[in-house]
Amino acid sequence: MTQPLQGRVAAVTGASSGLGRRFALQLSQAGAAVALLARRTDRLESLVSDIEAAGGRAIAVPLDVMDTAAIGPALETVEAELGPLSIMVNNAGVGGDGMALDMSEAHFDQTFAVNVRGVYFGAREAARLMLANGSAEAGQARIINIASIAAFTQLPGLTAYCASKAAVVSMTKGLAREWARHLIAVNAICPGYIETEINADWFATEGGKKQISKFPRRRLMDEDALDAALMMLAGDAGRQITGSAFQIDDGQIL
Ligand SMILES: NC(=O)c1ccc[n+]([C@@H]2O[C@H](COP(=O)([O-])OP(=O)(O)OC[C@H]3O[C@@H](n4cnc5c(N)ncnc54)[C@H](OP(=O)(O)O)[C@@H]3O)[C@@H](O)[C@H]2O)c1
Repeated sequence: MTQPLQGRVAAVTGASSGLGRRFALQLSQAGAAVALLARRTDRLESLVSDIEAAGGRAIAVPLDVMDTAAIGPALETVEAELGPLSIMVNNAGVGGDGMALDMSEAHFDQTFAVNVRGVYFGAREAARLMLANGSAEAGQARIINIASIAAFTQLPGLTAYCASKAAVVSMTKGLAREWARHLIAVNAICPGYIETEINADWFATEGGKKQISKFPRRRLMDEDALDAALMMLAGDAGRQITGSAFQIDDGQIL
């Protein structure tokens, strides 16, 4: 079977859980060598074993994206072990929930440190490597930021989260503009709700079930809902797509 990303190196932040784990598996199945970055290294090591058992190549790299100074060195480790980085998925994120009257400054700051600063500096450090390693010039450089439908609407009790994801969409377009002439494609995927650790507790509550019943299709999305968008943006089909934010939400915010 042809593997469209054979020979490419991808890095996925937040690969220890949920969507990031799925992205890493998809990229690996498409032939990329994949670096898994997050704080819970036991989970990353377990995913490395799964990928290797399936015939793929992966490494686990510990990273707290709130430590922005550590992002560049982590990606340099990726290049030293796997080769020139050409696909960066800035997926690590936190829920940032809380009503504004009660939300602590620390919780607000953490939300922006992970969801906004982590994505911005993850993109910048990846772009620096892509410029230096030739993948940009070769038209293979892809930065994929994981935003949310929260970028386009106001979700109750999630004002800080929504603002952080709107910032991700905004910076995606800004960075795409800045790096357009360097041929680095920067895009965002804006998912609707898929059950993961970030929201499983909420969807088990009566309030969560009520929210699902109000979606036009009365359901959460399946775990494979983002696969096609990821593959399009990561592969050759994505070479002339930049500065776009793909809303994939099963109509949840219609
Ligand atoms: N699930 C949904 O319905 C949905 C919808 C729209 C957007 N999203 C977005 O999708 C992304 C993934 O979320 P998910 O649903 O997969 O949630 P999840 O299962 O809770 O996964 C979050 C991931 O982010 C990582 N992370 C959190 N803080 C980090 C930090 N400081 N440094 C490094 N990694 C960190 C976690 O790894 P460690 O804890 O091991 O560090 C974990 O791997 C997030 O950006 C989220 O906002 C999710």
